[in-house]
Amino acid sequence: MKKLRNRSKVKENAANYVVPTEVGTMARKIYLIDSFQLNKEFSVNEIKNSIIYGDAFEILKRIKDETFDMVFIDPPYFLQLSGKELRRWKVKTKVDGVNDQWDKFSSFEEYDNFIKRLLFETKRVMKPNATLWIISTYHSIFRIGKILQDLGYWILNDVIWLKTNPMPNWLGVRFTNATETLIWAVKDKNVKKYTFNRNYAKIFGFGSTGTNVWVLPICSGKERLKDEHGKKCHSTQKPIELLRRVILTSTKENDLILDPMAGVGTTGYVAYFLGRNFTMIEKNFEYVKCTLRRFEKKLNFDNLITKKEEKQLNFLNI
Ligand SMILES: C[S@@+](CC[C@H](N)C(=O)[O-])C[C@H]1O[C@@H](n2cnc3c(N)ncnc32)[C@H](O)[C@@H]1O
Repeated sequence: MKKLRNRSKVKENAANYVVPTEVGTMARKIYLIDSFQLNKEFSVNEIKNSIIYGDAFEILKRIKDETFDMVFIDPPYFLQLSGKELRRWKVKTKVDGVNDQWDKFSSFEEYDNFIKRLLFETKRVMKPNATLWIISTYHSIFRIGKILQDLGYWILNDVIWLKTNPMPNWLGVRFTNATETLIWAVKDKNVKKYTFNRNYAKIFGFGSTGTNVWVLPICSGKERLKDEHGKKCHSTQKPIELLRRVILTSTKENDLILDPMAGVGTTGYVAYFLGRNFTMIEKNFEYVKCTLRRFEKKLNFDNLITKKEEKQLNFLNI
């Protein structure tokens, strides 16, 4: 796919990506915007249901204040891997870990500045009652939490994602790490009118009271996107079910959701088929291409609903 020159060209090209959907009364188009070719400020309408190819820091500056109803961020983890090849303990096969360039930072200071700049700019584009979700592992979630609070955000909850199929600790020297943490926050402590769909929260949370623990597998099998050579498109693709829970508990239909570090587009893909709008930003064009391909297939939630959910959804008549 070649770079696009101007807005009309962008629209023309993106017209290939009209997605069939039963959400709403008509199919909504999605757009690909090449920010490197299109150097301008964006109106809300232009970025609605768009995948913006470019650098989040640069693009967020071109988006107006108070644009989004919800933001989901899955930033680099800064896993600080040594670069040494990791082999499984007994069978000695190679472990396919996260070793991407985008996850590398020279120091904690550099990583903190990256997160600080991202959360600062994000806060500006959130509507007054918007909420923010940010996810990471123990490698960086504590730093992220501190930065959030330093910037004045008010944390509503942390949600623990307990993985039913975590990657084992191959060397057997530590506990198997089976969790990621999502922080859910508002812009400051005076924000009270944010969206919280209690019924869904109750269904998704572990136990009968709907706790802040979500139990679900990591993305695998057919859900994992593959490129034309059969290689996985992205090393940290998030599960559809995770985003479904995030979106259903904290947004309304037609809300506009931002994901500034979109990877292969899980947030926008799920949002779209739940009747929400999205804006996604991603700086790696290979990931953008995979995202576009992903939208050619309609997302069907039927088999994602668990027995517990089904029973409760029927009971609640949702
Ligand atoms: C943890 S991954 C997100 C995965 C995504 N949630 C998914 O399900 O596919 C983080 C992403 O941030 C992107 N990224 C890092 N720095 C960026 C920047 N400055 N602007 C836009 N994207 C960036 C990386 O290319 C990577 O795809």
